[in-house]
Amino acid sequence: MAFEKAGWEDVTPGAPLGLDPAIVALGRSLFFDPVLSRDRTLACASCHDPAASFSDPRPRSTGLGGQTERHAPTLVNRILGEAFMWDGAAPTLEDQVLMPLANPVEMDLPADRAAARLAEDPAWTARFEQALGGPPTRARLASALATFVRALVQGDSPVDRFLDGDVEALSAEEEAGMWVFESRGKCWRCHNGANFSDERLHATGVGAKDGRAEEGQFAVTGQEEHRGRFKTPTLRGLAHSAPYMHDGSLASLEDVVEFYRRGGEPHGNPSPLMEPLELTDADAANLVAFLKALTPR
Ligand code: HEC
Ligand code: HEC
Repeated sequence: MAFEKAGWEDVTPGAPLGLDPAIVALGRSLFFDPVLSRDRTLACASCHDPAASFSDPRPRSTGLGGQTERHAPTLVNRILGEAFMWDGAAPTLEDQVLMPLANPVEMDLPADRAAARLAEDPAWTARFEQALGGPPTRARLASALATFVRALVQGDSPVDRFLDGDVEALSAEEEAGMWVFESRGKCWRCHNGANFSDERLHATGVGAKDGRAEEGQFAVTGQEEHRGRFKTPTLRGLAHSAPYMHDGSLASLEDVVEFYRRGGEPHGNPSPLMEPLELTDADAANLVAFLKALTPR
């Protein structure tokens, strides 16, 4: 098997995640509460919709200052993440969760001001005292939100059950699609491991125009060879998380497979792992069926 289930048992729902339930509950309340935006109209959940695997059904989300630069990604299985944001700009979830607060295009309420606002409310202060042993601060706010995001785990898809030995769990098309994924499709080169992501950044050509890639990781490192690189996302929860890619430019999984079939978009810094694929129409349809079977049903 090109991908193994190693470590997945630890994070399936119901298994102990080693997360404090009181902190998760506080983080959940904060995530769904518009109190964290400047004018109290926007919550984290406004752009990370639970019904869409905590992504945004809109190609680009709208925040207080207009449209965001990129598509809001799924938050499923971030506990397994090693870098955050599409360009890898945030090394930890604690760093990441404060970014939308400070961003004038998103919630426009920097963490210190958000913590001060919460501290004025005796109910929030009591919740912070109870869960984190002190009043709301920037660090405690980061801890609560990051802990809630870590609790958003998803496994137990038909594909997991199949790999566990339940040979009835996948249809003939889905099973055929799994072999395309691992063989002619070459998807496992980047989408591997328990979360179907190598946690690395690659230039696939999404968003490239006139032969020139977007900045991607270049904006973080300033290294020319990082131009156009974006983080490999998990493939879990895909059945609900359309549209796809960092710019929300591909509306369906069929569109995604066609994108890979032609080897991505041409640009000046192509990944050596990308090339045009020789897939039949049946291969492509089976691959789409397999991708959908990575979501529990
Ligand atoms: C206005 C829409 C919007 C709001 C509100 C918002 N986000 Fe996001 N979120 C995004 C977008 C867009 C990205 C991708 C940004 C990028 O990579 O450039 C993102 C990325 C993330 C990521 C990174 C995931 C990964 O795998 O790299 C996390 C975690 C996250 N958001 C959590 C939160 C939390 C917690 C809140 C509330 C404090 C929040 N978001 C509020 C739009 C939003
Ligand atoms: C070179 C590494 C690489 C290979 C090979 C690869 N991917 Fe990806 N995949 C990525 C990266 C990086 C992204 C994000 C690109 C972006 O948004 O700029 C991505 C995004 C996706 C997405 C969108 C997920 C989302 O939440 O938006 C899907 C679906 C996907 N890939 C499926 C596949 C399939 C199917 C194959 C095989 C045909 C494949 N990938 C091959 C690296 C790769």
